[in-house]
Order: sequence, then structure tokens, then C-alpha cells
Amino acid sequence: MLKISATSTVDPSAVEADAIAFGVTDPPKLSKGASALDDVLEGRLKSLLSSKEIKGGRGKLAFTHTHGLLSTSRVCVAGLGKANQLDSDALRTAAARVVASTRAGSGSRIAWLLDGALGLGVAEQARAITEGTTIASYDHGAWKTVDPRPSAIEELVFVGEDTDGVAAAAQRAAEVCTWVNHARRLVDSPGNELTPVVLAEDAENLAAQHDRLTCMVWGPDQIEAAGMGAFAAVGQGSVNESRMIVMRWQGPEAPAEPVLGLVGKGITFDTGGISIKPSSRMADMKGDMAGAAAVLGAMGAIAALDISANIIAVIAASENMPDGEAYRPGDILTAMNGKTIEVTNTDAEGRLVMADALTYCREQGATHLVDIATLTGAIVTALGDFYAGLMGNDQPWVDQIAAAAEASGDHAWQLPLHSTYRRHIGSTYADFKNSSDLRQAGSIYAASFLSEFAGSGPWAHLDIAGTGHLDRSRDDYFTEAGATGYGVRLLVELAASMSKEP
Ligand code: BES
Ligand code: MN
Ligand code: ZN
Repeated sequence: MLKISATSTVDPSAVEADAIAFGVTDPPKLSKGASALDDVLEGRLKSLLSSKEIKGGRGKLAFTHTHGLLSTSRVCVAGLGKANQLDSDALRTAAARVVASTRAGSGSRIAWLLDGALGLGVAEQARAITEGTTIASYDHGAWKTVDPRPSAIEELVFVGEDTDGVAAAAQRAAEVCTWVNHARRLVDSPGNELTPVVLAEDAENLAAQHDRLTCMVWGPDQIEAAGMGAFAAVGQGSVNESRMIVMRWQGPEAPAEPVLGLVGKGITFDTGGISIKPSSRMADMKGDMAGAAAVLGAMGAIAALDISANIIAVIAASENMPDGEAYRPGDILTAMNGKTIEVTNTDAEGRLVMADALTYCREQGATHLVDIATLTGAIVTALGDFYAGLMGNDQPWVDQIAAAAEASGDHAWQLPLHSTYRRHIGSTYADFKNSSDLRQAGSIYAASFLSEFAGSGPWAHLDIAGTGHLDRSRDDYFTEAGATGYGVRLLVELAASMSKEP
């Protein structure tokens, strides 16, 4: 994890680091701290300003070597965009550009000048910079045998006149984003390595590190015996057995209620089953456990931060394979809540495993449910790679999740869940069918289906098929294809918002 410190000073030249960084809004000008730095640099920054090499646009970066004028070898100036549009994402992106530049110069220690005059508090700035730095430091190419790897960023120093709350906010962000990166590694891991069994072992290892965290794992026989006929069917065509992973967190001094229930989709590989997917881009379906990774990562961060809340997390882990033993189109399954489901498409497997996991989580005492799943291609069409889809049965609960989403940087946008949509999941033979052949509102049909298994009480659903892993750079602080760790930050923020002292 990043080493974090904060130094209150007006003289940035005293700071020990490989790079000093600061942000500029558009049009660019030097803050008080940056001007002090420029005095030591004999006006180099002002020259870069007048030559227009320093740009204020979001994501832009200029740098200069210090040629011995400072103990630090380089200075990075990161554009933040228009001052009246400044948000945490601008700082996360700026931090990511500084990481790339510092690594290019083989540095590992970055000092950031905080600007008390920006429209965002210094602790908020430090939080966002730490998030951007940690997330941008992640390496998707862990399976490459190339040597040497680029330098890793090891240390962040925050510098400013006022550094009230800065170190604590940054420390917390570093902890959370370490778990974001853990989730990303799980999502990037291929199906031959990350099976349901291996995912369960990861959860057990985590629980072994915390007294207040427990983990229980069920195999196919227990899943079947509990009446989870929908969950059991999905994994039956794979040699890699299904696992239901249940983690419980009892936070310090947390009251008995509310109990936050987190449910994650953990399909370690989704071929589509007998309703097999086309082979182009099928490899991306190793990431069909991004919801499970978000839940696991959030539990890791919640335990590390010792958040005062009660949480029960359920992960439904299976591999969806075509095989002689696989479930088939037309099969009729009985879910744990007694409802029957006609399988019209074996590629709509996520909602089947999630249905039983939701029922179980509610039965185990969750008062407030949220599930997170790479559920539908339709959400990618609707919202792309930036906003996750958010739907639910209780507007105050949806609002609380939307607020946590915005505060955390894991953005989510609500879609409507009107009861009229429910007719599209009706079956001729059973209570429900698992997919509609209408090419419309696919994400809403999927959510309507899940709502039937959420029991009574507030429930909400996050569809992260577009945000859990990327096909290409987002040009913000996610600059490569691959896993994002979407949901870890959101779920931690949500847990904190339900705790005694957020
Ligand atoms: N795992 C997929 C959804 C998905 C698509 C995730 C793209 C990430 C990127 C899911 O299991 C699925 O196959 N959904 C089907 C449902 C359909 C058969 C009703 C879909 O969206 O096409
Ligand atoms: Mn599928
Ligand atoms: Zn799937």
C-alpha cells in the first residue's frame, strides 16, 4: 500500500520526492504554492505558462526537469479543466497522468501541492489524488514475463499551508483502492485460474485475517439441498463446481439493525451454456464475476477500516458451460422461494444464480439489499462504460445508493422499474421465464426478474456489465482495457453511510 504523509508548509522546495505535482484549472495560472515553487525554479514555470506548454484542460500534463534547483528531479503540472466544473474525477485523472509521467522517469515518490483556493476541500483533493494514484498504479499485465516492469509508486506526500484531515482522508482512500485493485486482479484473472473454488478460497483467506469477519462456503450438494434450484442448474454443466460464499461482518458497536445485504454475481466464465455466445469477444466473459469481486473487495476494505455496520455478503459463484450435463432451454427450475422459472435462454444465467442468492441473503436477516452483477449487454447499449444501471423497489434506498455512487466515483444512473414491464418475464408454463425475446429494455426485464426474489424490504440492483471491465481506455484515470474494480468504492461508501459514524 502507498505510504502517505502530509506536510504543512508554504515552502514546497523543502519536500523530498522524485516528482512534485500540482493542478491548474483552465485557463491556467499559478497558485500561491506553485508561485513559491517557481521562484526556486527561477521562473521556469512562468515560461511554460507563457509558451502555452502548461495547459489547463482535463487530462493534460506538462513537466519540467529541475536541473538541481530542487532536490526533486521533476515537476508535473496537471490540467484540471474549467474551475466551475471541477470535481473529484478531474483530480483522479490528474493524479493518473502524474503517475504515468513519474513512472516514465523511474520515480516512486510523488509530492502533491494542495491548493486551498480550489473549489474542493483539501481533504477531498487528497482523497481523489490518492484514488487516482492507486488505481493508475495497477498493472493489468501481471501474466507477462517481461522484465523489467515500470517503477511502482510507493509514496505520496501532500503539501500545503492547510493540511487539516488530509492524511486521514488519503490513508482511507489508499486502503479502499488497494481493495479496488484486489477486485481488479480477480476480474482480470482468466477462467482457468479463477474458478468458483479459487474465488471461495480468496474469501476464506480474507476472513482469516479479521476476527469480526466470517466466511462460510457451500458446494453443489448444499446449494441443491437448500432448494436453490435456479443457482444449482447454472453450474451443473461444468467440471468446476459451484460455490456459494457467505461472509458476515459484525462492525464494532454496530446496532443489530440495519443489516446491509450485499449480493454479487460470480460467474467465473460465461460461455452462454447451450445457448452459446458467439466466439468474438467471448474471452471478456472471464470478467463475469465482477459483481462478486466488488462485494469481496468491499468486505476487505470494510474490515480494514473497521466500519461500524452489520453486513451479510452472498456471492453466487458458478461456471456456465455447455455440456452433456448442462441445463437446457425449456428446463423448468424451482427457486429457493418456491417460484418456478422456465429457462428460455441459458445465457441469462446471472439472474438465476442471483435469484437464489437474494432469497438467501434476505432470509439470513438483511434489512437492506443491494446486488451487483454484470447482468446484461443491454446496459452497455444504454449507458456505456461510465454509469452503471441502478434500479430498485424503494426510492429512498435507491437515492442513498445513488448518493454513495456519486461520492465514491463509481457513478450510477437510475432506470425505471415499473410493474408494467413485469409482463415480459411471464411464461406459458411457469411463474416466470428467464429471458424475453423482445429486443427492448433488457436491463429492466432482468431487474424485474430479480425483484421477484428480493423478499420484502428495500432492494436495489446495480448492472455493471458496462463498467466492471472496459474494452478500451476511458481517457480518465482508467487508461487501459480491463477490470475497473467498479463497486468496491461505492459499497464501502454505502456501508459507511449506514454506520454509526460514517
Ligand atoms: N454476462 C452476460 C452479460 C454481459 C454482456 C456482461 C456484456 C458483460 C458484457 C449475461 O450473462 C448475458 O449473457 N446476458 C444476456 C441476457 C439475454 C440472454 C437475455 C445478454 O445481455 O445478452
Ligand atoms: Mn450469460
Ligand atoms: Zn453472464
